[in-house]
Amino acid sequence: MRLKRNNIKPRKPQGARCKKPVLSPASSFEEYDEDFSEPCPTVTHSSQADVGSDAKNELLKPGAMVNSSPLPGPLRTGSPWVQVVGHAGNFRTGPDGKLLKKYCESEQRCLQKLMGDSLRPYVPSYYGVTRHDQQDYNTMDNLLAGFDSPCIMDCKMGTRTYLEDDLRKARESPQPRKDMYEKMVAVDPGAPHPEEHAQQAVLKTRYMQWRESLSSTDTLGFRIEGIQKANGTCNTNFKKTKCNEQVVQALEDFVDKSVPILRSYQKRLKEIRLVLENSDFFRAHEVVGSSLLFIHDRTGKAGVWMIDFGKTLPTPPPLTLDHRTPWVEGNREDGYLWGLDNFIDILTNILSVLLE
Ligand SMILES: Nc1ncnc2c1ncn2[C@@H]1O[C@H](COP(=O)(O)OP(=O)(O)O)[C@@H](O)[C@H]1O
Ligand SMILES: [Mg+2]
Repeated sequence: MRLKRNNIKPRKPQGARCKKPVLSPASSFEEYDEDFSEPCPTVTHSSQADVGSDAKNELLKPGAMVNSSPLPGPLRTGSPWVQVVGHAGNFRTGPDGKLLKKYCESEQRCLQKLMGDSLRPYVPSYYGVTRHDQQDYNTMDNLLAGFDSPCIMDCKMGTRTYLEDDLRKARESPQPRKDMYEKMVAVDPGAPHPEEHAQQAVLKTRYMQWRESLSSTDTLGFRIEGIQKANGTCNTNFKKTKCNEQVVQALEDFVDKSVPILRSYQKRLKEIRLVLENSDFFRAHEVVGSSLLFIHDRTGKAGVWMIDFGKTLPTPPPLTLDHRTPWVEGNREDGYLWGLDNFIDILTNILSVLLE
């Protein structure tokens, strides 16, 4: 049963009751996330002379805050930065403690706009493009700075993690995919329809939508992507974490049932929600695949920031989004605020149980 999304704030998320899972072990599922998400195109320059010759360089002109030095060092062991999830090899740290993420034009556009939006305090500060080893990087604040052995959680927000454009492209070349059929069967042998079993293949569009139905993306409008605890243990096996009870358990474990930490997160999320509801940027963007990064440490310090804007696209004017209306193809709604409402309600419920 799905939550009613036109309820602005469902009081008690019920949508994700555990059904008896018919799923095979998680290991077969590991790379399932990677295969259709169109990664942000990265730009590799063969020489300095390339700069200024392509569309991207419009963004590198004055005002774009290009940063060509000092050059960053490799990611060091013992570095205060850790990556919980995401594409391996996409990041470096700079000697000044900044974080470098492989260049992606749409992410740069978003980060630049966000620096002038009311959301600015809730995203990493952006410092322009840094080039290293013929590779451009978007340079931003390392949000872990100032935390002492932090616990980190990445939650992907929204009811959809593919763009409408991804669906359109998949439809334009509707070849049945054997590889996707095999991944589907590896996760849930009962998932393919009889005709898909007969063909031993599924369409990419079908695979994309089936994929979303496995996690709480579909039922709650967010999903936990990964959690790293202070002791270094890291769990990224949440792709089938769908029901309320599983999410609650993961969150309680993440904060070690600390009421003060939960309260800090609840307060910060309510603040973010209020700012999102009034943000010009947010109103005019389809925010897909973006995460909230939760960070706290044993000193009691806690914060939440929005990250990952590689698949965040402006809506065609004059279309604006409320981020709560259910998605139907063409309306571009992403369910971000619906998911945030549910997240806040879940935190509130956890707190009230802990305080009983
Ligand atoms: N500004 C940041 N500060 C600290 N950690 C970050 C920051 N941006 C990303 N990370 C870490 O890197 C991971 C992946 O980041 P993300 O931007 O989502 O990359 P991808 O596009 O590969 O999904 C996050 O889960 C988080 O652990
Ligand atoms: Mg990400």
